[in-house]
Amino acid sequence: MSAGERTQVAIVGAGPAGLLLGHLLERHGIDTVILEARSRDYVEARIRAGVLEQGTRDVLLDAGLGDRLEREGLVHGGIYLRFDGHSHHVPMSELTGGRTVTIYGQTEVVKDLIAARIDSGAPLLFECDGVVVDGLENDAPVVRYARDGHEMELACEVVAGCDGFHGVCRGAIPDRLLRVWQRDYPFAWLGILAAVAPSTDELIYARHDRGFALHSMRSLDLSRLYVQVDPGDHVANWPDARVWEELHRRLAVDGWTLNEGPVLEKSITPMRSFVAAPMRYRSLFLAGDAAHIVPPTGAKGLNLAVADVTVLADALVAHFASGSTTGLDEYSDRCLRRVWRAQHFSWWMTQMLHVDPGDDDYGGQLQRSQLEYVCASAAGATSLAENYVGITSGSTLGWRSAAISTR
Ligand code: FAD
Ligand code: PHB
Repeated sequence: MSAGERTQVAIVGAGPAGLLLGHLLERHGIDTVILEARSRDYVEARIRAGVLEQGTRDVLLDAGLGDRLEREGLVHGGIYLRFDGHSHHVPMSELTGGRTVTIYGQTEVVKDLIAARIDSGAPLLFECDGVVVDGLENDAPVVRYARDGHEMELACEVVAGCDGFHGVCRGAIPDRLLRVWQRDYPFAWLGILAAVAPSTDELIYARHDRGFALHSMRSLDLSRLYVQVDPGDHVANWPDARVWEELHRRLAVDGWTLNEGPVLEKSITPMRSFVAAPMRYRSLFLAGDAAHIVPPTGAKGLNLAVADVTVLADALVAHFASGSTTGLDEYSDRCLRRVWRAQHFSWWMTQMLHVDPGDDDYGGQLQRSQLEYVCASAAGATSLAENYVGITSGSTLGWRSAAISTR
């Protein structure tokens, strides 16, 4: 691209939000350019989410991105909750009229989206430096960036800020117009990817006096496991043997064994809840982690990013087809209803399962009581289940119109 190009929608960020938005718009003949700060290799290797809600899976299948997902994704109808040495199954599918989640790594979603974009020939520019969004005040948006040593300028009608929590787009909204809510947690997750068959058929969320643990997976040969650690802790303090020892302790129940295997990746993730609103300023629309993040306990971040861009794509398709601004005007409010539901659910799962180092045992007793209630009461279990598999379209929190859906 030469300096001084033009497109309809400039998309900043090639994470799941930016790539999926580009894909949905391209299917409706809308021109987009995706600008990404990192390299393709980096973006494709970044290990993050693993749980796709039923609605997220449906969106990806509708968009023609289902080949590998249908072949390789693991469909789960429940989760296990473990505490006080016992394991309880929450049959989510039974409790939600047959809805399920699919275990399919975010890295795989991103690889599928990048492959589709490259196939289509639509512009996807990696290693863009110093991205700046300008011209919003006078409705002549332009995105400036540098690439291969050249200063570039991309004029557009709309900017989609899909550049994650640490991106630049949110900062283009004047402070006086943006309200922010934030909560930091006094713990973090240390995650490992291990080359070993999962020791469970469905995910195990465990509360233990030593802290939270999670047994997840990526495939029938790859396990993904997490333990709660101090937010100031370092990977160097956690040699493989220590991680396994802690996992054995926190996940233990009689008659069950945790399989160990070579550790392929290890990292520590801080936990934060964050919402910035409104998610729109003139012709700039924020989507995904650029506008909101949740602690990973509820497995909601990627799913929210997909939900946002689905709403945004519908609104942009209507706008470019007929000039209608209704969908764009409603974008932020529609997304925020779902975002706050996920904020609450993620916070609720987090506080039920983690040990707060500053708390006394009163908190521990409340957690036990809450866990017992969820396991013993159909109402308690159903509430967890319907939030975990995702609030459906057609409900009062419905989030899609029919414009994009083909099913
Ligand atoms: P990102 O994935 O952050 O993508 C933003 C992109 O923008 C990146 O590629 C970044 O390089 C790029 N960028 C940043 N700044 C710039 C710039 N200035 N210019 C150009 N490009 C820029 N979610 C779930 O739903 N389920 C789960 O099971 C789950 N588990 C998780 C486990 C962990 C350990 C972590 C860390 C997260 C998890 N999440 C989960 C959250 C999920 O990964 C995120 O919510 C998701 O990545 C958000 O997608 P996004 O596209 O909005 O942002
Ligand atoms: C994951 O597999 O990475 C994963 C699963 C469930 C969560 C969070 C992360 O709640």
